[in-house]
Amino acid sequence: MKRINVVAKVTAIPARSMLDRLNPYHPGEQAPNTVKLSSNENPLGPSTAAQAAYHANAELLHRYPDGAAGALRLAIAEYHGMSPEQIIVGNGSDEIMTLIAAAYINPGETVVTAAETFSQYRFATTLYDGVVQEYPVVNGQYDLENMIGAFTNGAHPKVVFLCNPNNPTGTFRTHDDIAAFIAQLPGDTLVVLDEAYAEYAYSPDFPRFKEILATYPNVIVLRTFSKIYGLAGLRVGYGMGQPELIHNLLCVKQPFNVGLAAQAAAAAALQDAPFRLRDIGMEYYPTQSNFLCINVGCPAADAVRILEKHGVSVRSLASFGLHEHIRVTIGRAADNRKVINGLRELRGKHGVRNQ
Ligand SMILES: Cc1ncc(COP(=O)(O)O)c(C=O)c1O
Repeated sequence: MKRINVVAKVTAIPARSMLDRLNPYHPGEQAPNTVKLSSNENPLGPSTAAQAAYHANAELLHRYPDGAAGALRLAIAEYHGMSPEQIIVGNGSDEIMTLIAAAYINPGETVVTAAETFSQYRFATTLYDGVVQEYPVVNGQYDLENMIGAFTNGAHPKVVFLCNPNNPTGTFRTHDDIAAFIAQLPGDTLVVLDEAYAEYAYSPDFPRFKEILATYPNVIVLRTFSKIYGLAGLRVGYGMGQPELIHNLLCVKQPFNVGLAAQAAAAAALQDAPFRLRDIGMEYYPTQSNFLCINVGCPAADAVRILEKHGVSVRSLASFGLHEHIRVTIGRAADNRKVINGLRELRGKHGVRNQ
């Protein structure tokens, strides 16, 4: 066959104007010969039950998956004591954020969130021409007291994204704080409570999401199989809320958004007892997640470089607006020791205040 080289050329096709505000996502990186602690993955790997279910479905891969993810939604519903109509499954909880934007954000409508938080809230909002209003975190925590100000003077934001525990700071707001905040919002503002790290939270005053869902019909809670269940590569997350909200999200999702083996493996993982990780004795924001947000007291890039020398890749938080912070996923004990050794060297070099 004759080979034709297609040479790169600039096209004359104008892209949508919101693309001025979007760039391809940059994930946590891994330098050669380092352990990856830069993406809040589970270092213990997937459960063996999930792996077995994944393999068992290999011979069915010529079939489309169940677009309604019936068995998985039922399994999640039973696990939480809810009904399948209150559950949507997504290609990662990332997808559900985009579905929320597709279903609820009209061009020009305002979305409220923190400044230093998970980037996909901004992404989903921008994609649908919404306007993001950001509030800086205080002591690493969502500043709910200030965020309520977005609703004064006749302003009426459409959606609020709350990341709890917050990525990248690892901090959380309590049940009472979150409930009191939602109680003040208009009933036609959608609250997205992203609890990607909830299974790691051990504090007794961590929000009781079912109570919140039962009290406030305008709330969607997001969870994921990517963290405690160790299945980030599968891409399965879920949302929980009122059947009407879930129905609207189902209307805007692609027909077969979650793969066949992924649905089976996620359902199997639910039955496996989740892992809990030990944290390490260093100063950081009190975390309710599987990662630490550490103030290194020098440009984050310097810390990243030194830790790479010690064999670990961590995430600079400069792009989150935290120029002297890094985020470290809690790894295996040996990997955590590498982090501590690297931070000790950093302290020697920069006279870092915190460690
Ligand atoms: C707060 C938060 N929400 C959601 C996600 C994405 O989860 P998923 O892998 O299910 O898309 C992440 C991933 O890092 C996260 O930190």
